[in-house]
Amino acid sequence: MFKKRKQKIQISPSIFAADTLNLEKEIKLINKTSCEMIHVDIMDGIFVPNVSLPLSIIDVLNKKSNKILDVHLMVKKPIDFINNISKKFKKGIITIHLEAEKPLEALELIKKLKFKAGVVIKPETSFKKMDKFLKENHELIDNVLVMGVTPGFSGQKFKKETINTVKNIRNILDELKSKITIEVDGGVNDKNMKSLKDAGANILVAGSYIFSSKDYEKSIKELR
Ligand code: DX5
Ligand code: ZN
Repeated sequence: MFKKRKQKIQISPSIFAADTLNLEKEIKLINKTSCEMIHVDIMDGIFVPNVSLPLSIIDVLNKKSNKILDVHLMVKKPIDFINNISKKFKKGIITIHLEAEKPLEALELIKKLKFKAGVVIKPETSFKKMDKFLKENHELIDNVLVMGVTPGFSGQKFKKETINTVKNIRNILDELKSKITIEVDGGVNDKNMKSLKDAGANILVAGSYIFSSKDYEKSIKELR
């Protein structure tokens, strides 16, 4: 039988969904909440058909935010980006996609630079490929990010099959007796958070659910 989990959920609001014309105000509002991290989407317009905020967003967050940075690189050549952004902040997670160029070298570089290293499984990723990659490289990995939508845009509808992906990743991690965390990103809201938690998620990213609400702290509490 499927066992329910009692792990503590950490919340990572996705700044991509914030009011970017009032970024300083948004960062100050998030600083006052109980969330543990702030999720930063970086896109190159190649790996995904969209661009996000410029890389200088990381300088701004490093200066103005009191939260751990959780950087999600949706880029084809992560190594170039890792070298650049690692000079901009000290502590946090840097996550790359399995389909990016040289994923293993990218994870090794993230670890060498003393950040937590994450790898993404998106709806289009072959589970078999991720299973093999995780089993072979779990010692290099701190976080598996499971995407609930096709990467590129905030505000998309959550794909229900994500819940099974989280369960399957959790089973692999249990088998490996690994402490790797599972993060879910895309379409997360108060309706799916419980199933995601029961499936074994540790970190929930939420963009539109938090930033389109009137009370950020209330929305964050609803997701725990
Ligand atoms: C999608 C991004 C997500 C997105 C989340 O490509 O990686 O982080 O901003 O936003 P919501 O929660 O609105 O799906
Ligand atoms: Zn993201």
